Amino acid sequence: MISSFCKSATLARRMSTSAKPKTAIVMLNMGGPETTDQVGGYLLRIMTDRDMIQLPVQSRLGPWIAKRRTEEVQKKYSEIGGGSPILKWTNTQGELLTKKLDQLSPETAPHKHYVAFRYVPPFTADTFSQLEKDGVERAIIFSQYPQYSCATTGSSLNAIADFYRDRSVPKNIEFSMIERWATHPLLAEVFAERIREKLAKFEETVRDDVLILFTAHSLPLKAVSRGDTYPHEVAATVALTMSKLQVPNPHRLVWQSKVGPLPWLQPYTDDAIKAYSKQGKKHLILVPIAFVNEHIETLHELDIEYCDELAKEAGVIQIERASAPNDHPTFISALADIVSSHMKSGPRVSKQFLNRCPHCVSKRCEMSKKFFAQLVGSEIDKPFLTA
Ligand code: FES
Repeated sequence: MISSFCKSATLARRMSTSAKPKTAIVMLNMGGPETTDQVGGYLLRIMTDRDMIQLPVQSRLGPWIAKRRTEEVQKKYSEIGGGSPILKWTNTQGELLTKKLDQLSPETAPHKHYVAFRYVPPFTADTFSQLEKDGVERAIIFSQYPQYSCATTGSSLNAIADFYRDRSVPKNIEFSMIERWATHPLLAEVFAERIREKLAKFEETVRDDVLILFTAHSLPLKAVSRGDTYPHEVAATVALTMSKLQVPNPHRLVWQSKVGPLPWLQPYTDDAIKAYSKQGKKHLILVPIAFVNEHIETLHELDIEYCDELAKEAGVIQIERASAPNDHPTFISALADIVSSHMKSGPRVSKQFLNRCPHCVSKRCEMSKKFFAQLVGSEIDKPFLTA
């Protein structure tokens, strides 16, 4: 006998392909160029985004750096197949997530995912125009960076505030936001599973001594000193992953992808690989702990530059790279649990998000926090209509 839950889930699934979406899940991320032709524009937008990077005379220096780096970055994208797979992965994750939500939460179905990228299409402004046109009743702004940084999620959220600066916010859409989820247990579980897959590749005689090197995109020390929460949120994901793993292996958190001459968070991933090899630690797993899907930093920097080239030069015996969560079923369950719990009990906007860094002097941040506080207004603690 089919339960009423199954019947309504089936109905919701059918509706999701035929009816207009009721609930939008807006997946925020930086995006990556799909073709080498997009590389110039992508770099230009990054280098002129003061939320992401702060340069002296940025309006002139940013475009100059972007232009200078275009050819070299295009070459890297060519070496990983001609473009970034980030849109493909985000769409796959979004489709699997919304299918699951239709089952878990038929009362808010049909759900539809929307992608809002910061530096390549689909851009934030186009996506928000589209969900208004689609007539959704509710929009959940869902950062795809598990660990919050003012440079990444903060920048994407500022772009939403920019979009609504000169236009009125639609009154018929109920907005809310999930801006961080670094310590969700299923996120840690999927990282643990990805590490187990790679530990199994080592001989039993060395398996327990393999060094687990968690690696995350570095951040300028200036941002750390301002009070950006990213370093401790990344560390929290690492600690939770290790507690799920239950293995005796040593581990460290290191930082990759530094740009420019200013000091960033260290130790850097490449230096750490070399230094550990010198110390006699020659069996390693690299775990990209702040990326939920493959992109240039995993496929080129980690796989080609570090695992292939650098590890050989440094005399490493065996190095493996844990896959990003991608479409792992545990990861899709994590996304679905995060969104469905949010839809039931919020908060619509967290007090943690509304709190600025202690040394933040950015007018954009100030305006953006005010915008999101107003977006949900006095309803921050009010239960959702559809809960
Ligand atoms: Fe963190 Fe402005 S820099 S809130």
